[in-house]
Amino acid sequence: MQIIRQLDPLRTALDAIRKNGATIGLVPTMGALHAGHMELVKAAMAQCDKVVVSIFVNPTQFGAGEDLDSYPRQEAADAALLEEAGVELVWAPTVDQVYPDGFATNVSVSGVSSGLCGGSRPGHFDGVATVVAKLFNQVRPDAAFFGEKDFQQLAVIRRMARDLDFTHDIIGVPTVRDADGLALSSRNAYLTSEQRQQAVALPDVMRGAAEEIASGGDISAVLDEAKAKLLASGFHKVDYFELKHADTLEDMTVFARPARLLAAAHIGTTRLIDNIAVA
Ligand code: PAJ
Repeated sequence: MQIIRQLDPLRTALDAIRKNGATIGLVPTMGALHAGHMELVKAAMAQCDKVVVSIFVNPTQFGAGEDLDSYPRQEAADAALLEEAGVELVWAPTVDQVYPDGFATNVSVSGVSSGLCGGSRPGHFDGVATVVAKLFNQVRPDAAFFGEKDFQQLAVIRRMARDLDFTHDIIGVPTVRDADGLALSSRNAYLTSEQRQQAVALPDVMRGAAEEIASGGDISAVLDEAKAKLLASGFHKVDYFELKHADTLEDMTVFARPARLLAAAHIGTTRLIDNIAVA
């Protein structure tokens, strides 16, 4: 497995793969890999001949006061996991390779980027869309794999790919969870053991709310009650707890399928997000 940090050797390595007629699957990550990321790698290996994983903690998607500096970085452990999984190439660029001097371009996807995490993290999805567009151009994959864990991010990337004529497949992979239901996240590493126990309230409350909505419960009452339950379970702030149309992410006031519940809430210094289908 090659670990490449500069664009020129990346292009040489990718040309060699393509010359052999192999298809390329891209899994973009910020590292600190866990079983959720590895599920994307597995899906990519099943669909493509060769898998490229990018590891880049993208500064432009972090807001002022967010966890850019403390974001977990563990490249050696990540590389060992990826090597064992059979990944061909790790693209771990330096910041100046991604954002050269004078960088002045911004990819901004309106509509699906507004509200939810776009509301509580202004500018976040511009940073995501810009770096993902660059990764698509750098790697030119046949398919790119993203987790449903970041459901709004997936919607933003699908919209961007359609709008900017990226023709490769965008594949969404279901959320991988711990045995108690908490979605795996690199940020779970920030939780104390007490907070980790309390954090299970997020998927628990979401599941309960989804069942109530699916069986005809009043939507705004269910959402209000869910927020109150989170606040009573150790979370100290709920950024949002909302029901959306699963494809457009538009508000849903009358239940209709496909629907998705999405939430973000703070426990200690950690902000957790999750989402589930309302079936
Ligand atoms: P990161 O948070 O490292 O996540 C990389 C990919 O792994 C994303 O597509 C995310 O949705 C997926 N993922 C994370 N936890 C998951 C879980 N429990 N189950 C399934 N998939 C999971 O998302 C980013 O990085 C960045 O925003 C990025 C797209 C790389 C752009 O910088």
